[in-house]
Amino acid sequence: MYPLILLVIGCLLNTIKADNHLNNMTFPDTFMFGCATAAYQIEGGWNANGKGESIWDRFTHQVPSPIKNNDTGDVACDSYHKYKEDVALLVDLGVTHYRFSISWSRILPTGLINEINLDGVDYYRALIHELKENNIEPFVTLFHYDTPQGIEDLGGWRNSFIETWFSDYARLCFELFGDDVKYWMTFNEAKQTCVLGYGTGVYAPGVKSPGVAEYMCIHNVLKAHAAAWHVYNDEFRATQKGQVGIVIDSSWFQPENESLQADIDASETLLQFTFGIFATPLYMGDYPDIVKENVERRSLAQGYLRSRLPEFTEEEKIKLKGTVDLLGVNTYTSSMVRPLDVPDPEGKGLNSDCEVYQYQPDDWEKTDDVWMRVTPWGSGELVKWIARTYGNPPMIITENGRSDTGTLDDDARITFLMEYISSIKNAMDDNNLDIRGYTVWSLLDNFEWLFGYSSKFGLYQVDFDSPDRTRTPKKSVEYYKKLIRTRCIVDSCVN
Ligand code: NOJ
Repeated sequence: MYPLILLVIGCLLNTIKADNHLNNMTFPDTFMFGCATAAYQIEGGWNANGKGESIWDRFTHQVPSPIKNNDTGDVACDSYHKYKEDVALLVDLGVTHYRFSISWSRILPTGLINEINLDGVDYYRALIHELKENNIEPFVTLFHYDTPQGIEDLGGWRNSFIETWFSDYARLCFELFGDDVKYWMTFNEAKQTCVLGYGTGVYAPGVKSPGVAEYMCIHNVLKAHAAAWHVYNDEFRATQKGQVGIVIDSSWFQPENESLQADIDASETLLQFTFGIFATPLYMGDYPDIVKENVERRSLAQGYLRSRLPEFTEEEKIKLKGTVDLLGVNTYTSSMVRPLDVPDPEGKGLNSDCEVYQYQPDDWEKTDDVWMRVTPWGSGELVKWIARTYGNPPMIITENGRSDTGTLDDDARITFLMEYISSIKNAMDDNNLDIRGYTVWSLLDNFEWLFGYSSKFGLYQVDFDSPDRTRTPKKSVEYYKKLIRTRCIVDSCVN
């Protein structure tokens, strides 16, 4: 049985890979090309000039440290001081937009609206000003994992008041920066905040409550997103004319055997548990049926009186539906899936509730990150699935990239970019997908969460041993520059 499965998988993958020829059609002039970063990963200045502590400050300062090599984001790339240099790199690349995040606790040290840190406000004003001066669109994420510790002390994403605390913070950002910022993303990869932060507990704030706090977090994130969208819609849209979206990530889940209905269903189930648990309430007003059914069935069998997944009221459903102007998609890798032979009856996290088995075959190219293998075809499949499921919504790729050991001769990154962007462009061209832009993760080598500085995703190398945090371009800079200039993935395009 086992060799037969491998043979089937091998044939299937060959077909998928063969289809992924490099696209040689020019991108439309309106297509955006950018780079992304996030506050905690690059800024440093963790307690500079009135910034409050965030959960990642607290988490990385623990002894013993949960982070590889005891790394912290205390100084990181020092972009708090070197933002002008970062913008100069973006100018050299020729990007249309720069995706960065605002550190909530740099602006509101305790997270609450009563105390504003003007120095933090000045920092983001100056960065946005520098970008605008250079014709680069600021593309702002309001929340990229770094909850203010003061908010966490009140329960963080487990406390439903966070809907108000977050929308107060969002309103302040719209007020302060909204004349210049036209692209807002509320949350980055909230699945990581909720599943890793409150489920398995391997990310800050380190709460281990799979399937309970984990779902409370997801529920509150969704309500907070909708609240922020409505604040913008009611109070700012008419004058500022921007867009508010959310960044959702998912691997592509490839049915192990495409002719087995059970494997096709397993793929759909895992996509719904990963992507749909966020997107379906925001596009359709409620959690996906499969998520509601599975969690309720398993919760009752585990002795609960009701589902561990909270329910939305009718009023909340109305408030959630239709609150994504532009969908941010982070796409990196894929897995093979099939139904679990024997689901764990006691398992409570999202990963158990889906009852799907996933793995990455050994012959998929590895990167230096354990979770990630190179599967460009999967990104094309993912965006097609999103378009099919949500009625071809406007999307932008808000992150895609790979890590390596940090070499300046990063040919592997160039190949990666060519193949992934090609797969996304093929999916767009063949299916009329409304994808408006692409964003490389990342501009700089930076603090890669549990892996610290050992995992390097940057187009620019950063010397973390030097107090200057010297930036040096890798070979991929030349490739990305040319791609942006010519709007063509290969040497020359046919149209
Ligand atoms: C997703 C996250 O948004 C970002 O913070 C992280 O560094 C990259 N993926 C790479 O893992």
